[in-house]
Amino acid sequence: MDKNTIINNNLTWHNTHVQRNMREKLLKQIGCTIWFTGLPASGKSTTAFTLEHKLIEMGHLAYVLDGDNIRHGLNSDLGFKPEDREENIRRISEVAMLFCDSGVITLTSFISPYLKDRDFAREVHEKAGIRFIEVYVKASVDTCIERDPKGLYRKAQIGEITGFTGINAPYEEPVNPEIILNSTEDTPSAHADKVYNFLMDHNYIKKRRND
Ligand code: ADX
Repeated sequence: MDKNTIINNNLTWHNTHVQRNMREKLLKQIGCTIWFTGLPASGKSTTAFTLEHKLIEMGHLAYVLDGDNIRHGLNSDLGFKPEDREENIRRISEVAMLFCDSGVITLTSFISPYLKDRDFAREVHEKAGIRFIEVYVKASVDTCIERDPKGLYRKAQIGEITGFTGINAPYEEPVNPEIILNSTEDTPSAHADKVYNFLMDHNYIKKRRND
C-alpha cells in the first residue's frame, strides 16, 4: 500500500495535498504573485487595491498583502533596518507563495527597496514553480514628497524619522521588471487596467463566461 494512503472503514484518504493545478482549474486562473515595489507614496497600494477590485469584479480571486495586514501582525516585530527589511521580504515571499499555492492571484505592496531582497523573492518563487511579476510603480522623490499623505517625508526631512526610504535610506530601482507604471502620468485605474491586460495576455486569467 502507498505510504500516503490510509484505509479506514472502506474509505480511502490520500493525505498528500491536492495539487495546485487542481485548485487553479477550479478557480480558472493561475496563482501568481504580482510584486508592487516603489518609494513610499508612489501609489503601490492604491494601484494594488484598484486591481484587486477589478479582478474580483471580473470573477477572479485576488488578495492584497500590504503593510496593514502584514507589518501590523506577522511582521510586527520588524523595523526598518536593512536586516529587518530583508526578513520582512522573506516572510512576505513565503506567505505570498502559500496564497499562490491556494490558487489566488496575490498582490504584494511593499517598498522592498533592495534589489537583492526582490531578487530573493523572485528566486524562491521560481524555485517553487510559481510565477512572479515585478511591477515598478515609478515616481520621483520630489513627486512623493509633494504627495506625502502620511506626513512621513516631512518628518524624515526634519530628522524625526531616520532611515526613511527616499530621504535617508536608499531605494534601488528594479533593473528588469515585467511592468513599469509611471505614477506621475497615469491614474491608478489605468495602471490596474495595464496589469489586468498583462494577466490576460499571458493567460493567467481568461475572460469568464457570461462577462
Ligand atoms: S519595506 O522597506 O520593509 O519594504 P514596507 O513597505 O514594509 O517597507 O513599509 C513601508 C511603510 O512603513 C511606509 O509606507 C511608511 O508608512 C512606514 N514607515 C515607517 N518607517 C519607515 C521608514 N524608515 N522607511 C520607510 N517606510 C517607513
